[in-house]
Amino acid sequence: MEEALQKLKAEATADLAAITRASDLEPFRIKYLGRKSPFAQLMRQLGDAPSEDRPRLGQLANELKKDLQLLFDEKKASLVQEGAGESSGIDLTLPGRMQPQGKLHPVTQIMEEICAIFEGLGFTVAEGPDIETDFYNFEALNIPAHHPARDMHDTFYVDDSILLRTHTSPMQARVMETKQPPLRVISPGKVYRCDSDITHTPMFHQVEGFLVDTNVSFADLKGVLSVFIAKMFAETTPIRFRPSFFPFTEPSAEVDIGCVMCKGKGCRVCKQSGWLEILGAGMIDPEVFKKVDYDPELYSGFAFGLGVERIAMLKYGINDIRLYYENDLRFLRQF
Ligand code: FA5
Repeated sequence: MEEALQKLKAEATADLAAITRASDLEPFRIKYLGRKSPFAQLMRQLGDAPSEDRPRLGQLANELKKDLQLLFDEKKASLVQEGAGESSGIDLTLPGRMQPQGKLHPVTQIMEEICAIFEGLGFTVAEGPDIETDFYNFEALNIPAHHPARDMHDTFYVDDSILLRTHTSPMQARVMETKQPPLRVISPGKVYRCDSDITHTPMFHQVEGFLVDTNVSFADLKGVLSVFIAKMFAETTPIRFRPSFFPFTEPSAEVDIGCVMCKGKGCRVCKQSGWLEILGAGMIDPEVFKKVDYDPELYSGFAFGLGVERIAMLKYGINDIRLYYENDLRFLRQF
């Protein structure tokens, strides 16, 4: 039996040394280390050996198995390392193929940045529907039917009372209806207007913000927006508040920042004015509070609506808003 074991070892070692392809490893393992291998058969015959020889033969058999398994594992590792497992036609030495990797759209990136700044100032996010009722888009915001301010919005109607929201301001009434002050909310989302030129697209994004509490003043609005602009652009960015009109705020303002394309000298983007409007804002009109049963004698608040594409244009120095929606990968990959 000892002789048979030694013979088996010599045969298996020679066979293993002759293997050059990873695909030949498994047949070898089955032949020499499997349950039906000559080695397994020899182990079964061990019981028939004289009892005084059995411990020595058992030890010999175990050592042989251990040595063979070790040699087999080393061979396997060296074949894989050399890339020799290519019997199936796969060349493991070839470099991998690059998988194209998607990225967030620049407008989404800016929207996330805007939200993060306001969240840092204690605002929470609330999202609402793109398809909105005439009530929330206009009536609740003090814009009754036939009010001239409806013309500013160039609305896409679905039917007489359903429309694609023209701004994110409907979220003011939606949130105030369900929550009591103090409130500090931002609401990002898509809005739609029949409008298209180098600074306007029919679908664009706004971030609405509003804060309601006791004793809120225009100075609070100025403070919050100044912090936002300093964080979004630079501490030195010129800002101006221009008197304006929105039926749902009184007083109202439009906020411009110095045109970053021409550094305020005047260009095609800023229509030679040196300024670009980025948001509308104001103190929430008492009429809006009355519609949601807030006491206008007790509460005051401010609201603002930012144009996200405008901010992205200024931040990245893009001079035509329509580039965002042409899906040209050469443009999108730059962000
Ligand atoms: C509004 O939509 C008001 N809801 C903003 C507001 C909210 C005022 C809360 C007061 C209180 P306005 O129509 O000005 O306002 O639009 C706000 C911003 O959206 C603009 O400053 C501009 O940056 C952007 N914007 C407007 N129309 C377009 C358009 N067609 N394409 C891209 N951006 C636009």
